[in-house]
Amino acid sequence: MDRILIRGGRPLFGDIDISGSKNAALPLMAAAILTSETLRLSNLPRLADIASMRRLLETLGAEVVEVPVEDGEKGMVLEIQASGVKSIRAPYDLVRKMRASVLVLGPLLARFGQAEVSLPGGCAIGTRPVDLHLKALEAMGAQITIEAGYIRAEAPEGLTGADFAFPLVSVGATENAMMAAALAAGESRLVNVAREPEISDLAHCLVAMGAQVEGAGSDTIRIRGVGSLHGARHAVIPDRIEAGTFLMAAAITDGDLRLRGAEMAHLERPIELLRRAGTTVEETNNGLHVKRTNGPLVGTDVMTEAFPGFATDLQAQFMALMTTATGASMITETIFENRFMHVPELHRMGANITVHGASALVRGQQKLTGAEVMATDLRASVSLVLAGLAAEGETVLNRVYHLDRGYERIEAKLAACGAEIERLTA
Ligand code: UD1
Repeated sequence: MDRILIRGGRPLFGDIDISGSKNAALPLMAAAILTSETLRLSNLPRLADIASMRRLLETLGAEVVEVPVEDGEKGMVLEIQASGVKSIRAPYDLVRKMRASVLVLGPLLARFGQAEVSLPGGCAIGTRPVDLHLKALEAMGAQITIEAGYIRAEAPEGLTGADFAFPLVSVGATENAMMAAALAAGESRLVNVAREPEISDLAHCLVAMGAQVEGAGSDTIRIRGVGSLHGARHAVIPDRIEAGTFLMAAAITDGDLRLRGAEMAHLERPIELLRRAGTTVEETNNGLHVKRTNGPLVGTDVMTEAFPGFATDLQAQFMALMTTATGASMITETIFENRFMHVPELHRMGANITVHGASALVRGQQKLTGAEVMATDLRASVSLVLAGLAAEGETVLNRVYHLDRGYERIEAKLAACGAEIERLTA
């Protein structure tokens, strides 16, 4: 199994290209199931999760071809054609590896009137149920049963548009409901939906495919269903979580980075808190520029919230940053119940953190020291990379496959800015 070796203590200087968003790409790839024509997606990141979704689409019978980049495009470009779908079953083996596989449920049901998707089960950061996905689809007339670990959804007469208010904001459930509503008969009004940029990106792509979607980015989305959707071309938005992670990498190493392609509008709250903590973040003509303002970082409290609040996917990285600040900070996680697994690993690097329920008190100004640490999930693992970049001595990160699910060529991007980081292949 690969490991990553970091010799810490070097400030990062230079430019980093931000990749396409993994979390935007996954529902967009699933949306290809909604049409028999070709959906061409560009700016896809080369990541394990994208490969998993590709494998799932191919298992269902879709044809997925990587094609050369054309003028105006970047990243990986895939053409997905789901005319020959032969199976409506997403098997346990694939869903267990990547929970976002559940995003094929809405599109399969909407286009073929039936779907079978393995229940994802728990994961390292919490129980993560899919009840809201199912409730929204039931509101559109789906009959849903759970059999032998699989969600079986049927709508033999097709789905019908519905009014549905989500009791809790869910990104994935909003996406599944939007994709289903795009082909349902009549109008749907989805209330208390997620407002993440990935939702707006999905809406743009669905509109390019001929769907009638209004209100994405607000808390109510209206969709008038159409009889069929057609092919389209769509470029995936930049990855705001990757960009946010590199903002913090500059701050923790006292470096100076330019992030090409990063969007200020996707990162307003994290940037506000980073500024409060003592960094300068400015918009440039093609991205963001970040460096420390003056002197050390100062302890800053943060609470995770649905967008436009501070993303839970940046919480572990912010905690790593706060371990090196002056004074204390309180970090409260409100989205997932078990998202502090990075804490014991940060302890091994000398951090002083006490967890009380959903809050962690970080007493900063600790000198971090390199250690052998283990990744437990995607964002926890990158927080250990950040800590390793700031620490004295060597850090070895085990279970790098978590990192590979969500960060494209991270060691190459960091090394190009002066980090001493290398992948040790077993
Ligand atoms: C997405 C992101 C993930 C991010 C999360 C929150 C993707 C592929 N993943 O995950 O990186 O951390 O948003 O921003 O985009 N919930 C229920 N019932 C449901 C669905 C969710 O109770 O049916 C709960 C979850 O357990 C969690 C909260 O709602 O506590 C938010 O989860 P959700 O927004 O659905 O996260 P995902 O879409 O899984």
